[in-house]
Amino acid sequence: MTAVPLPVVTERLLLRAWAPGDVDDIHAYRSLDDVTRYLMFDPQPRERIAELVTERAGRTRVEADGDVVHLAVEHEGRVVGDLTLKWSSLENAQAEIGWIFHPDVQGLGFARESAAALVDVAFDLLGAHRVWAQLDPRNHRSARLAAALGMRQEAHLREESWFRGEWGDLAIWALLAHERP
Ligand SMILES: CC(C)(COP(=O)(O)OP(=O)(O)OC[C@H]1O[C@@H](n2cnc3c(N)ncnc32)[C@H](O)[C@@H]1OP(=O)(O)O)[C@@H](O)C(=O)NCCC(=O)NCCS
Repeated sequence: MTAVPLPVVTERLLLRAWAPGDVDDIHAYRSLDDVTRYLMFDPQPRERIAELVTERAGRTRVEADGDVVHLAVEHEGRVVGDLTLKWSSLENAQAEIGWIFHPDVQGLGFARESAAALVDVAFDLLGAHRVWAQLDPRNHRSARLAAALGMRQEAHLREESWFRGEWGDLAIWALLAHERP
């Protein structure tokens, strides 16, 4: 079992566990169409966020395949985004990263700064061999972020899933431990 040592502090941000007082901040961005456009879920009502906060508070350990570390990204006392690190295979040291940020702070480099810190945690503290991300290829901001982290696009799967009334493609991006920039 490995716990992510928290908080992770970057130049402008604090990465920490989700906490009960985060519901309003997280609802502020997860309830927006613009934010969920390329995500697997629709805009989330406040009650759903409250459930998620309860489920995810303190989820910062990796014990078994499929375990997900959920982190809130705080800027000046406000949660402006959240990151996930899912251990897709412990045996094979494979970790999947995910990112969601408030439109207010997009374009400021917050996603890049916090995700880069989490990638470092995955490789340096948790022993990941490969950190990967899956995204809708139409999600250009997400692809730019993956590229900025040093990831390569490994695959473009065509019509991989039925997504909001049409067949959707899926892109896989990844960074290997020995390829780190
Ligand atoms: C995907 C997402 C996290 C990307 O966020 P972002 O803010 O665009 O990403 P970054 O932190 O890398 O910001 C990069 C931009 O900030 C700019 N920037 C400004 N100051 C910066 C700094 N100090 N450091 C780095 N970049 C900086 C960069 O130039 C870049 O601009 P560009 O996009 O015009 O090239 C965001 O769009 C999002 O949350 N989308 C909705 C949810 C979603 O789709 N998640 C992904 C599912 S796969």
